[in-house]
Amino acid sequence: TVSPAHSASTASTLITDITALVTNDPSLGDNSPLGLIRDAAVVIEGDRVVWTGEASKAPATDNRVDAGGRAVLPGFVDSHSHLVFAGDRTEEFNARMSGRPYSAGGIRTTVAATRAATDAELEANLTRYLAEALRQGTTTFETKSGYGLTVEDEARALRIAAAHTDEVTYLGAHIVPPDHADDPAGYVALVTGAMLDACAPHARWIDVFCEQGAFDGDQARAILTAGRAKGLHPRIHANQLSYGPGVQLAVELDAASADHCTHLTDADVDALASGRTVATLLPGAEFSTRAEWPDARRLLDAGVTVALSTDCNPGSSFTSSVPFCIALAVRDMGMTPDEAVWSATAGGAQALRRTDIGRLTPGAYADLTLLDAPSHVHLAYRPGVPLVAGVWRRGVRVV
Ligand code: NIG
Ligand code: FE
Repeated sequence: TVSPAHSASTASTLITDITALVTNDPSLGDNSPLGLIRDAAVVIEGDRVVWTGEASKAPATDNRVDAGGRAVLPGFVDSHSHLVFAGDRTEEFNARMSGRPYSAGGIRTTVAATRAATDAELEANLTRYLAEALRQGTTTFETKSGYGLTVEDEARALRIAAAHTDEVTYLGAHIVPPDHADDPAGYVALVTGAMLDACAPHARWIDVFCEQGAFDGDQARAILTAGRAKGLHPRIHANQLSYGPGVQLAVELDAASADHCTHLTDADVDALASGRTVATLLPGAEFSTRAEWPDARRLLDAGVTVALSTDCNPGSSFTSSVPFCIALAVRDMGMTPDEAVWSATAGGAQALRRTDIGRLTPGAYADLTLLDAPSHVHLAYRPGVPLVAGVWRRGVRVV
């Protein structure tokens, strides 16, 4: 309990009796990338971590929480989602599971529903999926526009998203909307002109779906370059459904992340290994579209930094669960449990060019997930089981 003498913002709290603590600081603990400390404790003060180490060496604090011999790790950093939307695509999924292939065209269904929705409906939908993600241990999320595709509807989506996260991405270039079907060049001019002007104040990032049926490499370069000139940083949907120029463009433009990376040539892998662009893998999309898995092992063996995120969206990946993505990545993409947990925490942070989240070291935000399990490995070992027993966000226990 917090004594009246201490305001909640300055009281220190010890979380102790942690059987395995993932810090993501290799200089701590066992010298692995996870910086695993056994029989550990964390001290948080205000919204920050102020101390991590062996429980027996922990300093005195105002409050104490007993983790009960369970595991603690940094809150998940979900660096790729599309949560400002309305409408339902259950039937599209149902048909796909009966053999119809996935295509980018389904995005139009959500665009129509999103344009027709009120602000309050979009807000309620977003809040619902954020609460769902938080209960599953996600403490930071990026989210995008991309289902408005008019100046007003894109700016509205970003405004709504920006009330909930700093990691907001302008994706006016999701597809060419039906109203511009005969004039894709005119739509690119809008995305890089009036729409960008209206959207840039609400966003940190600019994204483009570089894919057959969406935008080609030249269009993607023009869009990302225009965004950069307005102070937005590039990230890109690349090489999801087919081979293409997206990944190499991402590296050329020093994008923070190339997302999907499902169809890669050796030259694509070499490009990623040569730059600092993170490869963000989104196995929920391959699961929900019955597609080939991205080859995480190939990327890791080439020295590429890999992040794991949900891609939560109503079309290709309607899951908000990072633990589910970790389990898929371990089972089907050649990742070890340690690698998958790192990619869903520190990897996501790197894909957002953040050093204040995704790790539990002094100075980082106190974003922590307590598992009802003795080890982070259980995230893959016990798939589908709700293991998240506690979540602290910015030092406040929220689950
Ligand atoms: O990341 N690739 C493009 N956008 C989404 C799919 C959106 C949709 O189908 O509604 C994705 O998979
Ligand atoms: Fe996506």
